[in-house]
Amino acid sequence: MRPLLLIALAGLVACGGDDVLPKAELMDPATCAQCHPKHHREWASSMHAYAADDPVFLAMNKLGQEETGGALGDFCVRCHAPVALAQGLTTDGTNLPDVPQWAKGVTCYFCHNAVEVAGEHNAPIRLADDQTMRAGLRDPIDSPAHHTAYSNLLDATKATSSSLCGSCHDIVTPAGVHLERTFAEWKTTIFADPDPRKQLSCAACHMVATTDVVAEGPGFTAPLREFGRREHTFAAIDTALTAWPDKALQQAAIDRDLAALLVPRLCVLPVDGGRIDYRLDNVGAGHMFPSGATADRRVWIELVAYGAGDAVLFSSGLIPAADPPLDPEDLGDPNLWRLDTPATDAAGARTEKFWAIRSIDHPGTLLGPAVTTDPNDPRFYHAVEKSFAVPGLVPQIQRVTARVLIRPLPMALLGELFASGHLAVDVRDQVPTHVVGGSVLEWRAGGRDCVQ
Ligand code: HEC
Ligand code: HEC
Ligand code: HEC
Ligand code: HEC
Ligand code: HEC
Repeated sequence: MRPLLLIALAGLVACGGDDVLPKAELMDPATCAQCHPKHHREWASSMHAYAADDPVFLAMNKLGQEETGGALGDFCVRCHAPVALAQGLTTDGTNLPDVPQWAKGVTCYFCHNAVEVAGEHNAPIRLADDQTMRAGLRDPIDSPAHHTAYSNLLDATKATSSSLCGSCHDIVTPAGVHLERTFAEWKTTIFADPDPRKQLSCAACHMVATTDVVAEGPGFTAPLREFGRREHTFAAIDTALTAWPDKALQQAAIDRDLAALLVPRLCVLPVDGGRIDYRLDNVGAGHMFPSGATADRRVWIELVAYGAGDAVLFSSGLIPAADPPLDPEDLGDPNLWRLDTPATDAAGARTEKFWAIRSIDHPGTLLGPAVTTDPNDPRFYHAVEKSFAVPGLVPQIQRVTARVLIRPLPMALLGELFASGHLAVDVRDQVPTHVVGGSVLEWRAGGRDCVQ
């Protein structure tokens, strides 16, 4: 038995009475690590753990509080530091660097103690505030640390669990702009079908199930559970931009999930004087791609046609190396294909500042998800194709490469936040540009018109 638990259990005996750990211990994810080490390691690498340490979050919240004269209030911390807010350790997030680590981010206790979701956005989640950890097990063995209970808000096999995730993954700003809509998008898909055999909840896709024990430790022997352990990396696009545990684990989960997202096709055609067509089908996501923070995301298509000796005959979205890196919009590329939802302020200028945004062009050019299983419904075919004109070039083209790239945040915003002193470190060179694995294709002369 590790020292922390010994101390905790000794503390219990001293308090007398209850047979499980006190709430103060259960609120600390480090307590859970003793018996759920795999869940803890994965979660500790996640954006849920990082949500209140993320320097870009801290900078944006600080700027937002300044620019609104404090009117932003607890808006941001409701999702990024819900336990700290509930415990009265912060009111507006500006003191987060001084808040103890156990209370930061979306913690184990926060999800596993949730008992009610009273709305569709902005995290109206009520905790039981007790010593019971809830999830989907129908037959848990006794835990020495906490009581257990079944909850359909935390059963990945039930669509009801999407309301817990979805209530945070859907944002309506104080100005009434429906800024992030992952939950609303999911509700339109085949995965939200009322037929339980067709449903796929957020957790069903995002928390991969493996056969494993779900608890380990002295004093009990947990059973091996078939597809019973759920991965807790919560990986997608964002990564830690500062020192943080297990970055490689998080990146591997990101690459795995991006590889299953899109089905592409690439054609080089002699028609219309010469054309390259690139088609993308969002088959893997239970919502748009990208989704959520789509005003921040920079997602673009990089397409390059090479001639003899690998000379570049045509390119779009090809960003040359530079320090600081360029945003795709800096290219001045007339053919640029972006997956984007421009958000604008009261004056109609593009902005990523939540509190200044007055309008968002959603779904913009995002790739739509599957909304019907009926092939006779025109919406069944939701792939999107774009033609790049290459007049007179087709006979010279030797090969063409195409792929989708995604970057979580624009460099220009980070540059501004750093220059104004809100961002403590210049994180621009830490921002990843992920290759969407499933989108990568290469066409070569001498074969078919199309590759897929
Ligand atoms: C964002 C919400 C969320 C957070 C944060 C979270 N979990 Fe979970 N957890 C879930 C969901 C959803 C399930 C799936 C339950 C099911 O289908 O049985 C789950 C399942 C579990 C289970 C049951 C076994 C299994 O793998 O399905 C354990 C144990 C568990 N989590 C422990 C933890 C620990 C420990 C932490 C923190 C280190 C944590 N969780 C953080 C949502 C969360
Ligand atoms: C002393 C060991 C121990 C500690 C510490 C511990 N757990 Fe558990 N937990 C268990 C055992 C044992 C089970 C039951 C496993 C089984 O039946 O396969 C369990 C089950 C669970 C479940 C599944 C509940 C259900 O009904 O589906 C969740 C969720 C969970 N724990 C979360 C946590 C969280 C969060 C923490 C930290 C606050 C934590 N546990 C700390 C031993 C522990
Ligand atoms: C209390 C609010 C809250 C709940 C509940 C919640 N999340 Fe999150 N989630 C967040 C926040 C905040 C972030 C982003 C943190 C950051 O990047 O700073 C996030 C990030 C993520 C990411 C990574 C996104 C990216 O682009 O990298 C995934 C995936 C995710 N959550 C899935 C889930 C799933 C699945 C559930 C339900 C089991 C869930 N979340 C429940 C608030 C929540
Ligand atoms: C059918 C499977 C599936 C379902 C259902 C699903 N997702 Fe996703 N989600 C994906 C895939 C695939 C990606 C893209 C892979 C990646 O970003 O690494 C993704 C990406 C995301 C992202 C990152 C979006 C971005 O562009 O920054 C978030 C956040 C997210 N999902 C949350 C959710 C939430 C919340 C739900 C439920 C309301 C949900 N997902 C339902 C498969 C799914
Ligand atoms: C209703 C819940 C919620 C609220 C309120 C919220 N966030 Fe988030 N935040 C999220 C989620 C969920 C993500 C993950 C984004 C995704 O991948 O879709 C996120 C991601 C982020 C990120 C990571 C980078 C990015 O853009 O993806 C930053 C920075 C951020 N939020 C800042 C803020 C600030 C500043 C506020 C207040 C003005 C705020 N958030 C309010 C839920 C919330």
